[in-house]
Amino acid sequence: MAKTYNLAVLPGDGTGPEVTAEAVKVLKHAADLAGFKLEFTEFDFGGDRYLRTGEVLPPNAADELRAFDAILLGAIGHPGVAPGILEKGILLKLRFDLDQYINLRPVRLYPGVETPIKDKGPADIDYVVVRENTGDVYTGSGGTSMKGTPHEVAIQEMIYTRFQVDRCLKYAFEYAEKHGKKARGLSDVNTLGLVGKTNVLTFVFDLWERAFHEMGAAEYADIKRDYYHVDATCMWMVKNPEWFDVLVTGNMFGDIITDLGAMTQGGMGIAAGGNINPEGVSMFEPIGGSAPKYTGQGVINPLAAICAGSMLLETLGEDASAKRIEDAVKVATASHIKSLAAGRMGYSTSGVGDLVCELMS
Ligand code: IPM
Ligand code: MN
Repeated sequence: MAKTYNLAVLPGDGTGPEVTAEAVKVLKHAADLAGFKLEFTEFDFGGDRYLRTGEVLPPNAADELRAFDAILLGAIGHPGVAPGILEKGILLKLRFDLDQYINLRPVRLYPGVETPIKDKGPADIDYVVVRENTGDVYTGSGGTSMKGTPHEVAIQEMIYTRFQVDRCLKYAFEYAEKHGKKARGLSDVNTLGLVGKTNVLTFVFDLWERAFHEMGAAEYADIKRDYYHVDATCMWMVKNPEWFDVLVTGNMFGDIITDLGAMTQGGMGIAAGGNINPEGVSMFEPIGGSAPKYTGQGVINPLAAICAGSMLLETLGEDASAKRIEDAVKVATASHIKSLAAGRMGYSTSGVGDLVCELMS
């Protein structure tokens, strides 16, 4: 009997539902071609539901989602809801509750896609950021006192435990071993670079750096280890992105550098990421926002959501289908789609989904 995967779909806000529909279309086509089955169950979490019911996320949401093989998320963010409520209440809450401790973000320039970096091409911009996804300033530890007075105190703490650092590093080393540039035939060595700030954050990144070298030397001696300060990383991401293979970093730095990375790969229309719990259920998303001003016009680019679908299949072990989707996206960007920008693709949102399906045979 054909293998069946149960997928939860959270289309979310704004243009989220439009791009998610195309990702689902492409996933279904991939399943048909490969002979496995996908069952989709939709959840209406997002701004509209919150405004209607006053509830950000039902209390049993994480438990329900845990029963699925993977989750596909569109976008969270609604102009009618104050910033932070939905982001913290849905996206971050699910990442934490489902212990998705890795945020995997490839920075890959596809052929035909314009990058703002002069003289760099797909061979240069081709690396992956492993962002820790449960610790750091994201834990919400801190507080405020004397608020609104000239003496106001605001504290937001950067927190890491050895356990969190070790499990993230283990994932990153394993990832570098399996998917690094040597594993892909692009170099004679797989390299993992730690991105930190050991010159200022002398407690947190001292922990990261010690753990990194201890684990690397003991278990992954064949993987080359580099270290970069985060500010210098931003510089090299623009000047010499070809130096990078796999990068690993904390939650906050990872958040920041992956937006920069996304811009170098052509923008939010193409950048996908996975919130991964290697032992549990993972959630895949286009890393851009809900782009509310384009809602319902059929002009938004669904490629990032489609690429998130490809990452989802890879995590399920359907590597060949994941590659089939990514290869089709590459042909689409190389030879068909004019621009990744909303309204300038030369195709409608659903037209892009159809195109990727056609190119998948
Ligand atoms: C991201 C986003 C989120 C984050 C926000 C929306 C909470 O920027 O996924 O990168 O900071 O992680
Ligand atoms: Mn971000």
